Order: sequence, then C-alpha cells, then structure tokens
Amino acid sequence: MTDAVGHGKIILFGEHAVVHGCPALAMALPRGALARAQVSDVDRLHVLPFDSHIVLDGRVPEPELSPLYVAFEAALADAPGGRPRLAVQVELQVPAGAGLGASAALSVAILRAIDAALGRTRPDAEIIEASLRWERVFHGNPSGVDSAMAAAGGVAVFRKGEPLVPVPVSRLPALVVGHSGSAPSTREMVESVARQLARDPDKVRGIFEAIESIVINGRSALLRGDWKALGQLMVLNQQLLNTLLLSTSRLEAMCQAAIAAGALGAKLTGGGGGGCMIALAQDSGGAKAICDRLGDQFGAEAFVVGQGGSDAAQRGADA
Ligand code: PMV
Repeated sequence: MTDAVGHGKIILFGEHAVVHGCPALAMALPRGALARAQVSDVDRLHVLPFDSHIVLDGRVPEPELSPLYVAFEAALADAPGGRPRLAVQVELQVPAGAGLGASAALSVAILRAIDAALGRTRPDAEIIEASLRWERVFHGNPSGVDSAMAAAGGVAVFRKGEPLVPVPVSRLPALVVGHSGSAPSTREMVESVARQLARDPDKVRGIFEAIESIVINGRSALLRGDWKALGQLMVLNQQLLNTLLLSTSRLEAMCQAAIAAGALGAKLTGGGGGGCMIALAQDSGGAKAICDRLGDQFGAEAFVVGQGGSDAAQRGADA
C-alpha cells in the first residue's frame, strides 16, 4: 500500500491579500504529510510526530484535541453509507504553525488515504473542497490556497473561488526556508488584517493592490528566470506585509541576515507573526551559505527548496 500525499507549500507572493480576493503565487513542497488508512473496529486517527490519537466514539476529547476530532469527523462525512470503520495514520513532515500549509497537507493526505481504503478516487477539486471544510475548523476563513497547493503540487497562481492556474516554470529559483522558531495562529493573523481593513479600508485596499501587482510581476520574473527582479519584488512584498503588522523583529532580522549573506531578496511566508521566512539565493551554493548563516546566527532550522534543494518542487519544473 502506498502512502497518500498532501504537499506543504511556500507562498512566494500574495499571502493575506489572497484572503481578500487578490491572487497569490505559491510553490508546493514535495514534503508535507503522508497518510495510510485501513479497516478497523472504530474510526480512529493517529497523528505523528505529535502522537495525537483521536477515536470517533462520541466522547468529547480533551480541549486541545477537539478541533482535530471535529475535522476528522468532517473528513469522513463524505464517505458512502455502510462503509467500514477506518484507522488512519498520518505523518506530518513540515513544522505546524510555521506558514508552510501543514494543516492543509494533513487534510489532503488523510482524505486521499480514506478514499484509497474505500477504493475510490475523487478529482482534486472535490478533495480541495473537503480539505477546506477541515481548514475552516482550524483557520476560520481560509482563502483555500493551502488546500489547492496541498492537492495539486507544483507552482501556481491561486485566486479564491477559482481553479488553480499552474505556472510552467522551466527553471526553479534556489530558495531557502528559515524557521523563526515561533508557531503563531494563522487565524489570529488573518483576523488582525480583517480588523485593519475594516478600520482603514482605503489604506489596506491600496496595500492589497500593490501586492496584486507584485504577484503579477513576480509570475513574469519567475517565468523569465529573472532572479534579480524576483528578489526585489520579495523585498517590496515584505515591506507591505510589515506595514500590515505581520512581521516580527526576528523575521526582519533573519531577512536582513539572509540578504547580508548574499540573498537577492527575502520575506516572510504564510500567515506571519512568526513562522517561516524565505530567501532567494543566486544559486544552490549561495543557498547553502544562507542556510548556514541562519543556522549560525539564529539557531534557525533552514532548508533549500527549488534549485539545488532536496525539496525541489519537481512537478512545477516539469509542468
Ligand atoms: O500560515 P499558513 O501556512 O496557513 O498560510 C496562510 C496563508 C494566508 O494567506 C495568510 C491565509 C489564507 O488562508 O490564504
């Protein structure tokens, strides 16, 4: 039996604005979550590496596990009546709460494992819809970018409510992902931006429009392989995210350190308020130097994606 896969992702440009209808440019990580399901006496879920166990026996679990209970129930809600009970085991391969789309990766892997055990295959669009029900339990009002990337992989432009548009990249950039250490709540960061939008709609809409231009120009730069332009756009996107109070002093310091170590640009990725940043290296050798700098200066966990990375998003490169 092969494991069912859900991809993690990084957002190159457009996080948060994407919740409000703007496009975002994202790249899937080959790693994310791996799941398998088999017939059992009761519906149960085991999540590694946390060793969290959920049993759907009608008994309310302890508070920190109750969202997982509700989400797992929702994941099984679409299954045909009279189905066998299932034991699902899932292993998360990216840090949770770090802006790498961990919960969407978990949901897609679990949904596909359930389908495989029941002998059915659903199109990506249905998996994404089901994954969104899971995401709403944890994130409140997700744009859907994480679920779409978790299911499809590759490099793509996402706009809320629309199908993912793959970006046929012939050469991937060398990107470093560095973890700032904290695991903020995406839901709280999204709510904070919504409050700012309600308070000062002209200012925040203006920021979203600027981010939308960055996404459009970023897609062109990526297709041309113009890493200098891509790096400059990352710096601009980071300034706008900082204006929305989504950055932290540690993320700013990590971005600056990456640029001092040779990066062409750097920004936070995902929900912000902590979590991960990404830096664009000139090449795979440069990426290694940036990883080392982030590790030495901040003790940060860092890895390379794209060119030179063990995590190359190959489906995007092949598209
Ligand atoms: O923090 P993550 O990996 O869930 O990424 C969230 C991306 C946001 O744009 C901030 C939220 C969303 O739903 O698109």
